[in-house]
Amino acid sequence: MNELDAPKEAARALLAGHLVALPTETVYGLAANATDESAVARIYSVKGRPSNHPLIVHVSSVDSVTPWIAELPDYAQSLARDFWPGPMTLVLKRSQLAKDFITGGQSTVAIRVPAHPVAHAVLVEFERLGGLGIAAPSANRFGKVSPTTADAVRAELSAYLGEHDQILEGGNSAVGIESTIIDCTTSAPRILRLGAITASMISASTGLELSYQESNIRVSGSLKSHYAPDAKVLLDVEPMPGDGFLALESHETPDGVVRVAAPKTNEEYASTLYQALRRADELGLNRLVAIVPDDDELALAIRDRLQRASHR
Ligand code: TXA
Ligand code: MG
Repeated sequence: MNELDAPKEAARALLAGHLVALPTETVYGLAANATDESAVARIYSVKGRPSNHPLIVHVSSVDSVTPWIAELPDYAQSLARDFWPGPMTLVLKRSQLAKDFITGGQSTVAIRVPAHPVAHAVLVEFERLGGLGIAAPSANRFGKVSPTTADAVRAELSAYLGEHDQILEGGNSAVGIESTIIDCTTSAPRILRLGAITASMISASTGLELSYQESNIRVSGSLKSHYAPDAKVLLDVEPMPGDGFLALESHETPDGVVRVAAPKTNEEYASTLYQALRRADELGLNRLVAIVPDDDELALAIRDRLQRASHR
């Protein structure tokens, strides 16, 4: 199958009720037709995820958001204009189309317009064929590390996918951590999950102060333990011989320690983070020591993921 046929084939499979693991610029998603209740139910069984956790609906453009929502506040319009397509999810008041099996019974729906060319091509074709949106959580088993390559998806889900389900190739996810989730149902935006779209970017776009409080984060990626490899993750301690070690390149590797990644920047730290966590498991390491970067807002999102990976 050539590059152009794969997204078309995937769109048809989705409309036929099958699942497609789809590359996005954040992480790979496990996609189903968001108006097909039985296809969406299969997402939960393949992931092993509790069924009350709401899903993000993905569409091709801001125009395609309209059927899913009751209203788009002015400040959310600014965010949509500035950061879509991109690594941002908006939580908005839902329309009739966003059923309880998508929203977990909440009166809101989470929506994203992804930027990855493969995800975009699938969405364009899916909508051309009459589809309205694609539900897609990260394509990992519940509580595990999100996949940022097609190989990682295969390692996570091959055993659980059916013969008509598909895994699309799309290279390494460039952002590498999940989208920023922003609650847009009150008078000011509120961050529910940290990501590459940062608080200052949101303030600059909307002209509003965020009502951001960490304790308010209430989404599944916010369970204390999440994104966890099998190796025990320890933060900001001195590694011992035999430990895995993840830190910016500027940190030297102590003797006898196994370097799993040496990113040069915080962007690279984010984009290689989940691959580094997986690498620790592939190498059969018992412990992974991570030195958390701390000099910008993206570092806050990296810290958030590492804290969850280390919690048990
Ligand atoms: O980058 C991403 O967002 C990736 C890619 C595939 O798009 N998706 C992703 O999905 O991370 P998932 O299901 O792993 O995480 C989505 C989070 C969950 O924690 C869920 O609780 C939250 O979004 N969520 C979904 N709908 C919501 C809603 N109506 N209100 C609040 N949180 C919601
Ligand atoms: Mg997830």
